[in-house]
Amino acid sequence: MAKITTEPKVLIPEVKLQSRVKELALEINSDYQGRDIAAICILKGSFVFFSDIVRHIEQPVTCEFLGLSSYGGSMQSSGEVKITLDINEPLAGKHIIVFEDIVDSGYTLKYILNALRARNPASIKVCSLLYKPAALKAEIQLDYYGFKIGNEFVVGYGLDFNEKYRGLPFIGYIENEH
Ligand code: IMP
Ligand code: MG
Repeated sequence: MAKITTEPKVLIPEVKLQSRVKELALEINSDYQGRDIAAICILKGSFVFFSDIVRHIEQPVTCEFLGLSSYGGSMQSSGEVKITLDINEPLAGKHIIVFEDIVDSGYTLKYILNALRARNPASIKVCSLLYKPAALKAEIQLDYYGFKIGNEFVVGYGLDFNEKYRGLPFIGYIENEH
């Protein structure tokens, strides 16, 4: 387990997050004109991003929450995904947008997309706030993303390290000591 010795440093400040989130919502608004949206928040990491972006969506939108866990307190993806909270509402015929905090290896997203496709929605798109292109291993679609970042481990704005730092209003990075 990596030992954290310093507090997170700012990588993406709050104002930049807020303006990019608004831009993403504008893109979604123009792509989904005349269609209702079934927005799916992937818990826990996406809860802050999700609550900010849905407030800028102008279409009728329903909000669902899918609880997943792929990290057992480590900084690396295990590739193993557990559903910790399922969606009870039927999704057949709906236009789904999956809201993720971050796409790293892409295994979590791949798992989510397979699970949701089995429920016969009319369409599925994915919107991730952050994206680590250098870490991507799974073949996945990413329709919207906020920021490309490097391979640093980030926290804040919903993202955690061992359940800490989710409440920070900015995206920060932490340095570890091995
Ligand atoms: P993936 O399956 O490797 O793409 O990992 C996706 C999930 O791992 C995300 O939904 C996050 O919960 C978590 N994750 C990946 N990278 C980071 C990071 O830098 N900070 C915090 N959580 C991360
Ligand atoms: Mg997490």
